[in-house]
Amino acid sequence: MQLEDYLAVHSDPEPDYLAIINRKTHLKVLNPRMLSGHLQGRVLAMLSKMIQPTRILEIGTFTGYSALCLAEGLTENGVLHTLEADDELEEMIHANIALSPFADKIRVHIGDAMELIPTLNELFDLVFIDADKREYCDYLEFVLPNLRKGGFILADNTLWDGKVLSDKDTNDEQTESIKIFNQQLAKDTRVQKVILPLRDGLTLIRKV
Ligand SMILES: C[S@@+](CC[C@H](N)C(=O)[O-])C[C@H]1O[C@@H](n2cnc3c(N)ncnc32)[C@H](O)[C@@H]1O
Repeated sequence: MQLEDYLAVHSDPEPDYLAIINRKTHLKVLNPRMLSGHLQGRVLAMLSKMIQPTRILEIGTFTGYSALCLAEGLTENGVLHTLEADDELEEMIHANIALSPFADKIRVHIGDAMELIPTLNELFDLVFIDADKREYCDYLEFVLPNLRKGGFILADNTLWDGKVLSDKDTNDEQTESIKIFNQQLAKDTRVQKVILPLRDGLTLIRKV
C-alpha cells in the first residue's frame, strides 16, 4: 500500500458529496490534480474545526472542494468567501456547493483575486491561498491587513513538487515565485510560520 493510501484509509473518509465532487472533477475538468483531495481535504477541515472561524477567505475555488472542507469548521453564523478567476467554472462551483450542507454559508466571487480582495469588507480569521503561484507574495500583502491578530493563513503548494529545493535558477516563473515567497516569509516578523510536507507543501502562517 502507498503511504498516501494508508494515510487516507486510516483517516476520516470524505463526506459523500466531496467524493462525488472529486470524481466529477476528474471526469469533467482539466487539471483535476489541482483539487485538494481526500487527505489534504481532511487536514483543511480539521484545521478549520480547530480555529472555529467566523470569516474565511479562500483564493482559488477551482471546483469548490477545499471551500467545502474549510466550511466544516465555520461557526454557526460563519461565512466563507471564495474567489475564482475562471468564469467557466462558475456553474459547476454552484452545483457542487449545492450538494453540501454549507450552501447558505458560502459566497462565490468570480474575478481576479487582486481586484476582489480590496472589495471584501471583512476581518478574516482564516485565509486559504491556493491560486496563481506567481502572486503568492501579493496575496499575502493584500490579506494581512484584513486578517485578525492571531488569525491564520494556509498557503498551498509551497514545496512545488520539490522544485523549491534546487539552488539553481529554474527559468520557471512559478517555481521562482514560490521560492521567493518561502524566503521572504521565513524572515517575516509579522507572522509565525511552519511548512508541513503534506502533499505539495502546506504552509501554516499565524499573524502575531
Ligand atoms: C489549485 S486550483 C484551486 C484548488 C482548490 N482550492 C481545491 O483545493 O480544490 C487554483 C485555482 O485558482 C484560480 N486562479 C488562478 N489565478 C487566480 C486569480 N488571480 N484570482 C482568482 N482565482 C485565480 C484558478 O483558475 C484555479 O481554479
